[in-house]
Amino acid sequence: MMQEALRFDPRAAGPVTRADFPEQARVARHQPKGARRGLPLTIRGLRKSFGDNAVLRAIDLHIPAGQFVAIVGRSGCGKSTLLRLIAGLEKPDAGTISFGEGTRREDIRVMFQEPRLLPWSRVLGNVEVGLGAGRGSPDAKARAAQALVEVGLDSKRDQWPAALSGGQKQRVALARALVSHPRVLAFDEPLGSLDALTRISMQRLLERVWHDQGFTAILVTHDVAEAVALADRVLIIEEGRIAHDLDVHIGRPRERGSSDLAALEGTILRELLRSGEDV
Ligand SMILES: Nc1ncnc2c1ncn2[C@@H]1O[C@H](COP(=O)(O)OP(=O)(O)OP(=O)(O)O)[C@@H](O)[C@H]1O
Ligand SMILES: [Mg+2]
Repeated sequence: MMQEALRFDPRAAGPVTRADFPEQARVARHQPKGARRGLPLTIRGLRKSFGDNAVLRAIDLHIPAGQFVAIVGRSGCGKSTLLRLIAGLEKPDAGTISFGEGTRREDIRVMFQEPRLLPWSRVLGNVEVGLGAGRGSPDAKARAAQALVEVGLDSKRDQWPAALSGGQKQRVALARALVSHPRVLAFDEPLGSLDALTRISMQRLLERVWHDQGFTAILVTHDVAEAVALADRVLIIEEGRIAHDLDVHIGRPRERGSSDLAALEGTILRELLRSGEDV
């Protein structure tokens, strides 16, 4: 199947309030505070099979620096495999993934669904782990403490992981991912196990840190509402390819439950259901 673009125009779906906001947000996003800019990502002819299971057959994709991309698709379509390839945790059978000159391995981080905290280490120590080789540096503690401030968990720095709620553990995992100031941050279903309200507050936190730090964000999610609420662009993977590539022309901050978001969510859900019927 050829890659095709689904057309979605929120202006046709309903009135857009605060029409000047997208431009303001775009300007603000290109001037991230402090941290280094995000990296662009280009994937060409990427293929990956496991035995005779051809999971990714021809992935071609360019993500500009600092963009927030969501990836959706049916269970087993290869979303996690694609993230693992991007993160260098898996080797492709064919094709290339490039980030531009001078990229270091620690510039690219992944956050998984399970927080994967070390039970024998306190919260601050768990965040320091994210510094990797930089863990021994004199400012390691200060940097970890700053990352905890960014996720609003400063007060828990001396707690054990077992004493935290699920949402708090995810925030520690986010701080651990942020502490090295990644330039590409990939999330594999990071909020899947959280209750609806905690999930929405974590979505807002993700959007805020992305906005402040300017990294390139790649979010794999089962939740189409989450994809359209957070991303600049939503990719749908079907049959080992990017079958649809939709720009989300909806200004930020986005109002949960707005008609624009609901219309786009409906378009994507219909496509996912339709593709399932072909199987
Ligand atoms: N290490 C592996 N060895 C063999 N097969 C694998 C391996 N990893 C993934 N697969 C297979 O590749 C396919 C894609 O798996 P992947 O985990 O990427 O899917 P997914 O889109 O992330 O699914 P989900 O939404 O359920 O998380 C599946 O059929 C899976 O069984
Ligand atoms: Mg997966």
